[in-house]
Order: sequence, then C-alpha cells, then structure tokens
Amino acid sequence: MFNIAEEKDLAGIVEAAVTKHGAQADAFIPILLEINHEYGYIPGQAIRLARKLLHDLPGKSPEEHLLVSEGQLYGLASFYHMLHTEKTGRHLIQFCESAPCHVQGGRELWKSIQQNLGLKAGETDAAGRFTLVTVSCLGVCGVGPVMLVDDDMYGNVTPEQLANIFAKYE
Ligand code: FES
Repeated sequence: MFNIAEEKDLAGIVEAAVTKHGAQADAFIPILLEINHEYGYIPGQAIRLARKLLHDLPGKSPEEHLLVSEGQLYGLASFYHMLHTEKTGRHLIQFCESAPCHVQGGRELWKSIQQNLGLKAGETDAAGRFTLVTVSCLGVCGVGPVMLVDDDMYGNVTPEQLANIFAKYE
C-alpha cells in the first residue's frame, strides 16, 4: 500500500533522502525515488526543499556547492514514469505496454483494466483508491501480460482475473 501523504513528515523524508544519497548529480534520481516511495508522490514543496538541501549540504566548501535548479529536479520528477508530481491513489497500478506483453494478450487486458476501473492512463479514481499508469518493460516479458499493483507483480494476467486482483486492494 502506498503511504498516506498527510500523515508523513515531508521535510524529514526529504532531509533523510538527501543525507542518505548525498549532494551529487548522480544522486538526484535516487533522492527523488526515495521521496516518491516514502511520501507517495513528489509535491512542489519537496522539490524546493531538496534543492535547498542539495545546495546547502553541510561539509561542502562554497565552490563545492551543487548548483541545481528546481526546474531541473521538477524535469526529472515529471519525466520518469515511476515518479509522480501529483498525488496518486492509495494503490498504483503499472501496466506494461511494451511489445512482448502487448502481443501476449496485453492489448485486450489493457482494455479490460480501463473498463473495470473506469480509468484511462494517468487517472486516479474519485475515491483515491487506484491510479493507473502505463510503463515500459518491467523485465519479466516471459510471463506477459504483466502489471504491478504497488509492489505486487502479476504475470500471465487475463481479463477474468482482474476483479479478484483489484479486490485485494482497499
Ligand atoms: S514487455 Fe512487458 S514485461 Fe517486458
């Protein structure tokens, strides 16, 4: 289950992520991933906090301060499908839309998922239960079609299984 953002200490999460991964350019994605995982998504406030911490991290001389803009961080957060700049539902469904899954029944499954949930890609239902997104290959093409619900991987999924799978997530 994804975290309920309101109950989380955003500043603490951002600080912990920056401290853990360090103020260096190749840490931007791990930092954003960690914030996304811990908080459920990456609000603008997290971007601002992360930029400030990356820039001001103690122990660095003025020349060593990392110059990164909020725009750069936001660009990364909005580019990668596994990162979310908008609040997501309590459960994130990631459907693999790559070709190997597509030809193993993925096309029909995708239609059924959308019908079953009444959602299109990128949408969250009104009750905040599910957010539905498409992603590229999840690395388990041999058991396609494949989808992830939060951290649970489902392979060889058929339209008939969807109701039972979704019922597991409140
Ligand atoms: S193509 Fe779907 S998991 Fe690889």
